[in-house]
Amino acid sequence: MPKSLIALLVAVVCLVLALAIGIWAFLETYDDGAVDGGTTGAAEIGGSFSLTDQFGQTRVDGEFRGKLMLVYFGFTNCPDVCPFDLQKMTDALQALPAAEAAEVTPIFITVDPARDDVAAMQRYAANFHPSLVALTGDKAALDAVAKAYRVYAAPSDQGGGMSHSSIIYLMDRDGRYLTHFAQDATAADLAKTIEADL
Ligand code: NI
Repeated sequence: MPKSLIALLVAVVCLVLALAIGIWAFLETYDDGAVDGGTTGAAEIGGSFSLTDQFGQTRVDGEFRGKLMLVYFGFTNCPDVCPFDLQKMTDALQALPAAEAAEVTPIFITVDPARDDVAAMQRYAANFHPSLVALTGDKAALDAVAKAYRVYAAPSDQGGGMSHSSIIYLMDRDGRYLTHFAQDATAADLAKTIEADL
């Protein structure tokens, strides 16, 4: 067999292999998408809830439709991260014109139902934005909503605290996930993003 023919065969085999790997990689990606529901991951964050606010009133997620929601999970005995993030939400809303801030409902949901009863939530929420809705409920209901928002929360090793993910979620007027803010986001970052999504 001439050397040029061998070279051609090798090239063809390589091309076929490359195509096969490409198709396999594509199908893998496609499969992952299908397993996740065939949509973007973003659409899966958030979900319905029926909880009790800091005034003892039942609040359901559906009543917040038509406005954006800023949603944050934590607990009232949290030493530093929760107060910092709730203050950030407060500062962001106060940085916006009042008419725009009124288009956003800030929501705090406890991950510590054993200690965060209605009275504890009322005392705590008073430190932050006046429109803050502070929600508690039974453990099963809170676990379900935390799971829907993909929030991690568990008792921590030291001091009877809770370790939990500290992410501020921005949800749209239909209750769907828009974006989220990590620890390094500033109040100004929040305000700017909220304003762009109003
Ligand atoms: Ni916390």
